[in-house]
Amino acid sequence: MSATLLRGRVLSFLRKPETIDDNASYHYEEDGGILIRDGRIEAVGDFTSVKAQAGEGVETVDHRPHLLMPGFIDAHVHFPQMQVIASYGAELLDWLNTYTFPEETKFADTQHGRRIARLFLDETVRHGTTTVAAYCSVHRESADAFFAEALSRDMLVIAGKVMMDRNAPEALRDTPQSGYDDTKALIGEWHGKGRLHYAITPRFAITSSPEQMEMAGVLAREHPDLHIQTHLSENHAEIAFTQELYPWSKDYTDIYAHYGLLGEKTLLGHCIHLSEREADALSDAGSVAVFCPTSNLFLGSGLFDWQRYSRRPKPLKIAAASDVGGGTNYSMLRTMDEGYKVIALQGEKLNPLASFWQITLGNAAALSIADRVGTLEMGTDADIVVLDAAATPAMALRMETVRSLAEELFLLQTLGDDRAVREVYLAGAPAKSGLGRN
Ligand code: GUN
Ligand code: ZN
Repeated sequence: MSATLLRGRVLSFLRKPETIDDNASYHYEEDGGILIRDGRIEAVGDFTSVKAQAGEGVETVDHRPHLLMPGFIDAHVHFPQMQVIASYGAELLDWLNTYTFPEETKFADTQHGRRIARLFLDETVRHGTTTVAAYCSVHRESADAFFAEALSRDMLVIAGKVMMDRNAPEALRDTPQSGYDDTKALIGEWHGKGRLHYAITPRFAITSSPEQMEMAGVLAREHPDLHIQTHLSENHAEIAFTQELYPWSKDYTDIYAHYGLLGEKTLLGHCIHLSEREADALSDAGSVAVFCPTSNLFLGSGLFDWQRYSRRPKPLKIAAASDVGGGTNYSMLRTMDEGYKVIALQGEKLNPLASFWQITLGNAAALSIADRVGTLEMGTDADIVVLDAAATPAMALRMETVRSLAEELFLLQTLGDDRAVREVYLAGAPAKSGLGRN
């Protein structure tokens, strides 16, 4: 039985904060302790009482004056796009054809997939993210590499090989049958092993034939407990092309509904240009709209209408994500900084408590994994990020004038990045301090 006691300023959310002074939405302990035993949280509270509970001989790691929070969760990311990030000058469909698809063909090479999986999870951890919902490439081996790497770090990840059988280079196409067979094999091999979750991953309606969409629906029926992830309504040209490919559909959302792909564990990247009918359909299904601000700005896709989606009579479940490599940063702090600006452009201000709720408990709830992560509840997995709001000279100077927790969080979000992440614990084990420099 291995136990560790972390000391620091402990913060976790209990529910979505409604306002900037919604103090009942979180737990905060100025001199707090988190007792971790065998990868799980055994006790949380003020340091003195948690220490008394820990008993003799438990190692204490003193992180004061830093903040201890549940690790960040990134609800949509493409691990094979590490060498696509920062590709100049294109909108979605050109960007896919010019940069992304050629890069993803390299994942036919198992060694390449293993190398990038390792570097990707290094980068994720370096930025304070402890869980990702990740797209692999079309190649089964890329998913094998990703899951093996996550398992070796004892990370909770959701991932799947993309299914894509048309409108992409030959080398990136599977078939309805091989996409089904490979997905089945990967589910059998990885789902439920360690902390791994398999997500059925038809890339989007443009790259899946109706026959492949049928097969994705079959997989969803055969595995109703699994996540499904895909893209929806990101870009106007994409929407128009999708409508041509599925002329019978009421709209883009209707295509996924038709094939039985909308459920409570369906994660839909982008959802920028939804009609009221589509938003109602997603809300009725309990599916998740994933907000990817850095990507939506970088690719010029549009502004996600957070207020409209969250305030309508049938609100949408929303998650937040980097969408690397369409997204431009691995950091959920940088992601929410851009998210704040997207929302500000539409006349509203996202309060910093809500931002940090979103990238912890909010994303965990949206991904149906809040019983394990995004929280510091007793018995949950000890995935923890240690944050330093004075990590750089500019941050330290601004910290001199900070007067409240909400102000400190907003400073972290506005100026923070991987430098503000002092340590990361994955299932109780320190994971950032051990990383090499690559
Ligand atoms: N739609 C289909 N594939 C992708 C992708 O890789 N990135 C983004 N941003 N949108 C997509
Ligand atoms: Zn994406």
